[in-house]
Amino acid sequence: MIELKNMSVNLGIFSAVRGVDLVIKPGDRIGVVGESGCGKSMLALSIMGMVPDALSTVGSLIVDGQELIDAPESTWTAHRARTMSMIFQEPMAALNPLRRIGDIVAEPLLVHDGLGKSAARARVIDLFTEVGIPQPELRLRQYPHELSGGQRQRVLIALALACNPRLLIADEPTTALDANVALRITDLLVELAQERNMALLFISHDLGAVSRATRDILVMYGGDIVERGTTQQVLQEPAHPYTQGLIAARPQISQTATRRKRLPTIAGSVPALINLPKGCRFSGRCPRELAKCASTRPRAVTTDQGSTVMCHLFEGGTAQ
Ligand SMILES: Nc1ncnc2c1ncn2[C@@H]1O[C@H](COP(=O)(O)OP(=O)(O)OP(=O)(O)O)[C@@H](O)[C@H]1O
Ligand SMILES: [Mg+2]
Repeated sequence: MIELKNMSVNLGIFSAVRGVDLVIKPGDRIGVVGESGCGKSMLALSIMGMVPDALSTVGSLIVDGQELIDAPESTWTAHRARTMSMIFQEPMAALNPLRRIGDIVAEPLLVHDGLGKSAARARVIDLFTEVGIPQPELRLRQYPHELSGGQRQRVLIALALACNPRLLIADEPTTALDANVALRITDLLVELAQERNMALLFISHDLGAVSRATRDILVMYGGDIVERGTTQQVLQEPAHPYTQGLIAARPQISQTATRRKRLPTIAGSVPALINLPKGCRFSGRCPRELAKCASTRPRAVTTDQGSTVMCHLFEGGTAQ
């Protein structure tokens, strides 16, 4: 349904996302993890055709057989909301504080689906019910500030679902929420994906939430997908030194139960785009670095366990 081939997001000669191949089919639930700045949001925005003006998307993005890279804005507009829809990382930015939430969610129905006012209102009530907002008729008239963080996130989910997208991209949908609410929102996204046979791209720092919500996982570093496979395989037996570091740096259960935290980082930090090494982008921070890592980009290799790893340690077939 959606296929990315060798797709990159470039800022001049630097890439924030580098040569990604990805197929998204109905009902897929794919997690995207990696440290801050590794390109998760940029990957999501590129699928939506919404990368910031300074950057350019190259390669191929095919939706239902149609190439969207370099397609006119009108083609993108036709796909957004209907084919793919996104819950953005900054939730308050998507909710105009001066508008009632019922009007915010009705807007795509009026614009994209051409519904009349009362039909749109009825549909908003259905959507609010579907995402678990109690007393939807009353809630319609409220403003964003009158809602709790969890309820606001449900409104954003309703907004993203308004035109029945086939792919929902959720960029850090639970980061701003407390642990119990985060869990309920995660489960809601999974239920919605299953009920609607909708694909879900679930971006999160929270490996626990990703393991709960997704079947497959992409581990990103410096714009590369450095490891991918089933969520269970990759989280249980991480192959790439970067994935191993991410999992080792995971906060303890006692910490995650009380507070959503960014993962403590692996030694060093994600270098700015301009300083990224030419070869493996994790070289310089990698505990198992070989001489060629900094200069030669590793190929993606499939391990015996079925994960795909972009690391020179695996190029002989298995880890050395
Ligand atoms: N508007 C922009 N213009 C130029 N470069 C940008 C812009 N936004 C982000 N970048 C760069 O693109 C790279 C990827 O950023 P991105 O926002 O995708 O990271 P992320 O993985 O989503 O991080 P986080 O976990 O903090 O959300 C970073 O190097 C960042 O500096
Ligand atoms: Mg982001």
